[in-house]
Amino acid sequence: MKIACVGGGPAGLYFAISMKLRDPAHEVEVFERNAPGVTFGWGVVFSDQTVENISRNDPVSAKTITDELAHWDDIDVHIHGATITSGGHGFIGIGRKRLLQILQDRARELGVVLHFEAECDPADQRWKNYDLVIASDGLNSRFRNAKPEAFGVDTDIRKNKFIWLGTSKAFEAFTFAFEETEHGWIWAHAYRFAPDCSTFIVECSEETWRAFGFDRIEQSETIAICEQLFAKYLDGHSLMSNAAHLRGSAAWLNFPRIKCERWASGNVILLGDAAHTAHFSIGSGTKLALEDAIKLAEVLNRPGLSLEAALDEYQAERNLEVLKLQNSARNSTEWFETLDRYLHFEPLQFAYSLLTRSQRISHENLRLRDREWLETVERWFWKRATNGKSNKTAPPMFAPLKLREMQVENRITVSPMAMYSAVDGTPNDFHLVHLGERALGGAGLVFTEMTCVSPEARISPGCTGMWNEEHVAAWKKIVDFCHANSKAKICLQLGHSGAKGSTKLGWEGNDVPLEHGSWPVMSASDVPWSPVNQAPTPMTRADMDAVRDQFVAATRMAIVCGFDMVELHAAHGYLLSSFVTPLQNKRTDEYGGSLENRLRYPLEVFAAMRAAWPKDRPMSVRISANDWAGEDGITPGDAVLIGEAFAREGADLIDVSAGQTWADQQPVYGRMFQTPFSDRIRNEGRLATMAVGNIYEPDHANSILAAGRADLVALARPHLVDPMWTLRAAAQLDYRDIYIPPQYLNGMSQLARNLKREAEAAAALRV
Ligand SMILES: Cc1cc2nc3c(=O)[nH]c(=O)nc-3n(C[C@H](O)[C@H](O)[C@H](O)COP(=O)(O)OP(=O)(O)OC[C@H]3O[C@@H](n4cnc5c(N)ncnc54)[C@H](O)[C@@H]3O)c2cc1C
Ligand SMILES: Cc1cc2nc3c(=O)[nH]c(=O)nc-3n(C[C@H](O)[C@H](O)[C@H](O)COP(=O)(O)O)c2cc1C
Repeated sequence: MKIACVGGGPAGLYFAISMKLRDPAHEVEVFERNAPGVTFGWGVVFSDQTVENISRNDPVSAKTITDELAHWDDIDVHIHGATITSGGHGFIGIGRKRLLQILQDRARELGVVLHFEAECDPADQRWKNYDLVIASDGLNSRFRNAKPEAFGVDTDIRKNKFIWLGTSKAFEAFTFAFEETEHGWIWAHAYRFAPDCSTFIVECSEETWRAFGFDRIEQSETIAICEQLFAKYLDGHSLMSNAAHLRGSAAWLNFPRIKCERWASGNVILLGDAAHTAHFSIGSGTKLALEDAIKLAEVLNRPGLSLEAALDEYQAERNLEVLKLQNSARNSTEWFETLDRYLHFEPLQFAYSLLTRSQRISHENLRLRDREWLETVERWFWKRATNGKSNKTAPPMFAPLKLREMQVENRITVSPMAMYSAVDGTPNDFHLVHLGERALGGAGLVFTEMTCVSPEARISPGCTGMWNEEHVAAWKKIVDFCHANSKAKICLQLGHSGAKGSTKLGWEGNDVPLEHGSWPVMSASDVPWSPVNQAPTPMTRADMDAVRDQFVAATRMAIVCGFDMVELHAAHGYLLSSFVTPLQNKRTDEYGGSLENRLRYPLEVFAAMRAAWPKDRPMSVRISANDWAGEDGITPGDAVLIGEAFAREGADLIDVSAGQTWADQQPVYGRMFQTPFSDRIRNEGRLATMAVGNIYEPDHANSILAAGRADLVALARPHLVDPMWTLRAAAQLDYRDIYIPPQYLNGMSQLARNLKREAEAAAALRV
């Protein structure tokens, strides 16, 4: 094949090498606009995995690269005058200039023709003479941008400003240095890539950037200011630019996140940064470029594979890898963009939050990297959780939490789950066993399902209720059982179904209207849940009074039952949520329109319940923090205001769910997918929150809690199949101080022994 690689960065050069290695008969030329040795940038970071991949692909260039790699283990985080050092991170890096030299030499050795100072124009007719033109021309790719529709280019320009500088100061650790200035916070990411050279990236928000006047001054002045700001880290070394030709503010960049729907069009194939980018803060750009190159060369040389099939496989496999990294990169980018949210953390927690920002590194990963450091974090967490009384070194999920006078033994809760098994609202033996079993299973707090305040408030005929004496007696039996046999606290979730009411049992069809015995439904407005559901009657003020009083009556009954806590369900499109979300609330009176108006009735109900509920017992509210409808619905930003409004009425905890507020929602699912909303409400609103949604491993819970993304962690579906989730986690993590019902003691100690033996056997196998 006759191939032109446009761009002699890591992607183009390594692809040329990889093609020649597989078949020396290929004619490969690389066209690079710069002269050899002229390049932007300083050092690049690799992972061990990338080194393994390039060693398998070309042991010769890999040996030269690995011989010259700089290694470092520690990360130093400088914040608020403190330095937090954690170890075991194992980075490797090399100078970009040196990497390109090695790749150029190897390419020449294999017969690749290199053209330097060769600016390529996509409109040039000569590209027709090549079987393939590889667009390895970087993130501003002219070849990709010449046909944006053909490639389906999606660019997201990120908010912060950054400048890529270098210094002769050799940083011993990967260094994050955060400095507060009169113009706002500014920070550096610095790492050594050669014995006498480090990358030094300076980043700040656009407001800070403008306040410093970086938009108006020359690069040399920018550098002088940065040298002053970071003088204490530079030890007299200066900062340098290798893009000195750029005038004014041009050296400062906003990171463009690039995705492409299609990676090939005609004879042009995108490779490396031309096809995709991942924010520099997770250091994966060069890794992706090299791994793309290996994969593309491999499929193009596989006997019997058509060009079309080869390109399909190349894109499918690489895109998956790219999407995973872009996901982590987005978390990391957003962390730096919302830095203000975390600046009130103590330095240790700030560092933990920084290290776990991409969600690729978890609590247990940190334990493997630096056990001692992680234990310092755990001790700090326990000390804070107990007002300085405990010096325990143990996973955060087992630490207590006090809300008013209620103390939960640990941070795991059983999330509310409708069981559709009551008759006329009365919970029965099923509920006693179901909730009792989960209390025995070790969770600190057990929520009842949404319990309805009147017969018409039910979702289905099987929903539990709290409107008569029979209900009080049945609930009291359950509460008494939990209190007598476990340490779990129990919270009653009270709700009203609104437009989603009068539907079948969950397993007969979610939100499907009843065929027989239906009842009329009401809501904020006359918007039906879906075309097949009843059109609700908009609530009159008299309806509002009646329903508010039903909530209050149910709250009073909860006192008689002995519930430790009450939650108002204002999420998921049910009655109170139908007031909050603009997708369902079309009212024109003082209960519709602005968020303040839409919150008026839900807040009124909450305040009335709070007045009836004992002062020493906590109350929470469940909200949908995102309607998954963009700006047309509730956004995570609105959710902070909603949380704050309920907190002003006396909510002690915001239970942060999302969605289910309109039938055509477009949620973005994934591990811990709703936790970012909890994080935002907790740290922007400074409120106690509970995170929920696809949290299923103890490691998730510990990472969320230690990073300050929530105060409690709720699990629903994992508890359906494993009522003993918390006890099992305690056995796994070898935590002995948890309350174990005496009847179950033998089982727990056997489980702990077996898990320990298995872990030791697995460790021995690894050695
Ligand atoms: C601040 C910052 C920090 C980074 N840190 C890291 C890191 O730590 N680790 C990491 O792995 N990656 C890092 N990257 C990303 C990394 O630089 C790129 O992802 C990687 O170099 C991609 O390789 P590439 O070959 O696709 O593109 P590039 O390296 O951009 O190469 C493209 C080449 O094409 C040439 N070219 C462009 N247009 C033309 C044209 N029309 N004609 C001829 N030649 C042309 C350019 O001169 C360039 O040499 C960082 C990036 C930035 C901005
Ligand atoms: C069977 C089932 C019933 C549910 N019923 C309720 C409910 O009554 N009230 C409520 O607020 N959430 C309810 N939910 C939502 C859960 O509390 C939880 O927010 C959701 O399942 C996400 O958590 P998970 O990923 O741990 O399952 C229910 C979920 C399930 C699976």
